[in-house]
Amino acid sequence: MRIAMIGGGYVGLVSAACFAEFGIEVAVVETSPSRLAALREGRIPIYEPGLDKLVETNMQAGRLTFGDDIAVAVAGAEAVFIAVGTPPRNGDGAADMQYVHAAAEQIANALTGYAVVVTKSTVPAGTSRRIAEIIRAARPDADFDVASNPEFLREGNAIGDFMRPDRVIIGLDRTRPERVARAEAVMRKVYRPLSLIEAPLLFTSLETSELTKYASNSFLAMKISFINEMASLCEKLGADVHDLAKGMGLDGRIGRKFLHPGPGYGGSCFPKDTLALSRIGQEAGSPCRLVETTVQVNDARKIGMAGRIIAACGGSVEGKSIAVLGLTFKPETDDMREAPSLPILHRLAEAGAKIRAYDPVGMDAAKPGLPPSVAYCTDAIDAATNADALVVLTEWNVFRAVAPKALKEAMKGDVVVDLRNIFDPAAMRAAGLQYQSVGRP
Ligand code: UDX
Repeated sequence: MRIAMIGGGYVGLVSAACFAEFGIEVAVVETSPSRLAALREGRIPIYEPGLDKLVETNMQAGRLTFGDDIAVAVAGAEAVFIAVGTPPRNGDGAADMQYVHAAAEQIANALTGYAVVVTKSTVPAGTSRRIAEIIRAARPDADFDVASNPEFLREGNAIGDFMRPDRVIIGLDRTRPERVARAEAVMRKVYRPLSLIEAPLLFTSLETSELTKYASNSFLAMKISFINEMASLCEKLGADVHDLAKGMGLDGRIGRKFLHPGPGYGGSCFPKDTLALSRIGQEAGSPCRLVETTVQVNDARKIGMAGRIIAACGGSVEGKSIAVLGLTFKPETDDMREAPSLPILHRLAEAGAKIRAYDPVGMDAAKPGLPPSVAYCTDAIDAATNADALVVLTEWNVFRAVAPKALKEAMKGDVVVDLRNIFDPAAMRAAGLQYQSVGRP
């Protein structure tokens, strides 16, 4: 089987490498010359554990190729996946569809035989239908169907999530029932290896599939914002948010995952998708108030964390040296998109703090977005050296291994604000540190 993947970004590259690992021949189309050159040399422009090896072996096996000619990639492909970006549009937060529409236009002109044009990008309900219209208008003779197949992989765990998904959602055009069987057969063929592990393939309509992605991400974002609010309440009442989360999560209807409090969610999906779903609800005349509130709660949470750090430093950080551990929006990625560190460090710098930051992977990606005054360090202890206060912003495993005593010895002051709850409060206090975490007494 041959398929084409339009877009060699995060989702496109991971999906392409995993489909190739399934034994499918995958032709990736990437239009950025620098990215394409890197990919052709087997250099992976993103940090994702295991991806370099997967790309390398599948390139060597001849199943994974990279190019910029869409006609070459699409010729003979049974499925053509669109995995281009849908960034928030300036001004209103709605998804910017220009790259998706442009891809549809190009695919139309490249189609040779029957193919299913599959949208992997996160797109508003109605987009797959729009793609079909674009293709039909450009090539009335083309033999194709459209499908929606949103991607649910998490950065840092992308290959595992792709290979062992909780579910695969596939939307087909049910208004044309006579064509559904053929498109469904192609999609079943693409995902055949997953039937071995009995991953559920859920077939539904185009619009339902498109909306399921936004609903899932927004629900998870809401869950995080909920536990963040509970953490603040626990702090006021002397309760422990971890026990609370466990107590809630053991109820199977709630579930234990995504109840870890922190400085607010970031990344390429939750902030973008919650904004987009808010917009979709408003435009449809059916506002999603819980989602709108989640966006507000999360924005306020990130900004509020700077205030919390300043308060822990006695009300002022003017001229103080603050060590910051972790910059990326979560561990095991170099992604800085919507990372809580961005608003927090800007506010601390504006308040006169001298920031010494360390992140195991994300420092290069972080530099352009952070205040120019930030100093970058070689490890956690280097960052902590002579610091008045230390702040944990990302829960990288290497930080968990840092001994409280070593921190105390390196630091000038004794304030530690752990916004990811990676340290044991008793051990930190025993080392003589004034330790604050999130939602724990
Ligand atoms: C998310 C979805 O999980 C994935 O299904 C979708 O395809 C893309 O968006 P990702 O953004 O890679 O994946 O990261 P995820 O692990 O979900 O974390 C998102 C943010 O939520 C991070 O900032 C993380 O720190 C935060 N988070 C997550 C919490 O604060 N608490 C939690 O309990 C879980």
